[in-house]
Amino acid sequence: MALRILGVSCAIFMGTWVLTGGKDAAPATTTSAFCKIIWLIGVPCTEVNSAIVTQIKAMGSYTLSSVTSAAIQANHTSGVGQIESVNFTMTPTSVILGCHVQGTSVSAVWYSLFDNGINFCNLRNVIKGSGLYKAPGFLEFTNEWLCLGCGFSAC
Ligand SMILES: *[C@@H]1O[C@H](CO)[C@@H](O)[C@H](O)[C@H]1NC(C)=O
Ligand SMILES: *[C@@H]1O[C@H](CO)[C@@H](O)[C@H](O)[C@H]1NC(C)=O
Repeated sequence: MALRILGVSCAIFMGTWVLTGGKDAAPATTTSAFCKIIWLIGVPCTEVNSAIVTQIKAMGSYTLSSVTSAAIQANHTSGVGQIESVNFTMTPTSVILGCHVQGTSVSAVWYSLFDNGINFCNLRNVIKGSGLYKAPGFLEFTNEWLCLGCGFSAC
């Protein structure tokens, strides 16, 4: 269900972008490129946490800043002078054994309102590389208001 909503939202965003030449599609309040994604994953947060940390350590373009049981902070370098702040916060779900994860990625320097999906890929690549997307009950939610470049990028 959430995956279908994601697909539809991204498709609408892409259509808007094509129609306006990309000038008006991003939220008016945006001051730097950003992306927020929410995942529901049917495994305990402790497992989610260690899978994300292991994956970030394995990827050369990320630098871990701090790790607690509830939050993981890292920087991602996407090019010369282009650094994004990447956070994952984890909250246990109350009804079933699982974990609610919120990922945010924000460009440290404003260099382009349309970021070619860099912030989207910063988050997606970690979850994909960690294998968490194969976990039971995996759901992903974002849309064009939460995530610049949603649906454009081939990460
Ligand atoms: C992450 O980036 C911020 C802002 O560019 C910087 O202040 C901080 O020292 C960086 N942290 C690490 C661990 O590189
Ligand atoms: C990550 O968390 C730190 C500390 O709370 C905050 O300064 C930074 O802006 C956050 N970055 C993102 C992308 O949310």
